[in-house]
Amino acid sequence: MKKTAMVTAGSSHTGLEISKKFASEGYNLIITSRNKDKSQNAVDEIQKTYPGTKVFSVQIELTSVESIKTAFSKIKEEFKAIDVFVANAAHLGVDLDIYNTTEDDFDAVFDTNVKGTFFCCREAARLMKNGGTIVTLGSVQSKGAVEGRTVYGASKAALSALTKYLAYDLAPLNIRANCVISGAIHTTRWDNLDPKDLEKRRENYLTGRESTTEEVANAVYYLASPLSSSVTGTEIVVDSGLLTSILPYANRKVKNHDDFLCKE
Ligand SMILES: NC(=O)c1ccc[n+]([C@@H]2O[C@H](COP(=O)([O-])OP(=O)(O)OC[C@H]3O[C@@H](n4cnc5c(N)ncnc54)[C@H](OP(=O)(O)O)[C@@H]3O)[C@@H](O)[C@H]2O)c1
Repeated sequence: MKKTAMVTAGSSHTGLEISKKFASEGYNLIITSRNKDKSQNAVDEIQKTYPGTKVFSVQIELTSVESIKTAFSKIKEEFKAIDVFVANAAHLGVDLDIYNTTEDDFDAVFDTNVKGTFFCCREAARLMKNGGTIVTLGSVQSKGAVEGRTVYGASKAALSALTKYLAYDLAPLNIRANCVISGAIHTTRWDNLDPKDLEKRRENYLTGRESTTEEVANAVYYLASPLSSSVTGTEIVVDSGLLTSILPYANRKVKNHDDFLCKE
């Protein structure tokens, strides 16, 4: 019997790629979005590429526990049980720092990324009747600071801690929980960047480029699938080496690699 994976914000950007990865591996899907047109487009695209996949879309507003409970009661009617829950949706909290964040801004970020994710994970776990896996999407911005991501980074640090507690609390139900920590993911937002800015950004990455959505989806799939059966309560970092290099990589003195490499 096909397994079922649920991906929040599974109709665009990284979430859509994660949804497609699970469909390609033979899973049925539940994708959430707040936008009906966006999710219908994703359902159509996935079903066209992977015929035979059941794709159910449902609206969830993560800041509302009532919205979460309503969505999960619909999911329960449709699927009875689920196997995988991917907490991908997030308030990106762009340009919110100590100087400009209002109480409403702060609550919007934490209610989405921490409170909403907590209650979604709880409802999802209640449907994992045969055990299951939870994967959360964390960020390097919870490990170190960059401009304008103060509230977002703090919320992702809380999410990392929450993931460990999920692993601890849910182990008796045979449910594993892990986090994928991403650096920069190339979504369609990058298409609007000035090529000069793009080049400058890429100087920060040891790999010379940001991660693709496929690379993040592969890490999520690994943690969600039996490939990682004994892995729980931990993190996989997919960040092009951002956390490893303290200074911009381009500032590193270039050595003569020709003398180092074996000649034959
Ligand atoms: N992009 C990056 O460079 C990057 C780097 C590190 C980590 N991450 C993490 O990776 C994940 C995916 O990133 P992304 O850039 O691909 O995200 P994204 O899809 O561009 O944006 C997040 C999505 O979350 C949903 N969302 C936001 N607020 C919500 C709310 N209150 N209730 C329900 N859904 C809500 C929205 O989807 P709908 O409009 O469909 O509802 C929104 O489009 C996120 O967790 C992000 O924090 C991303």
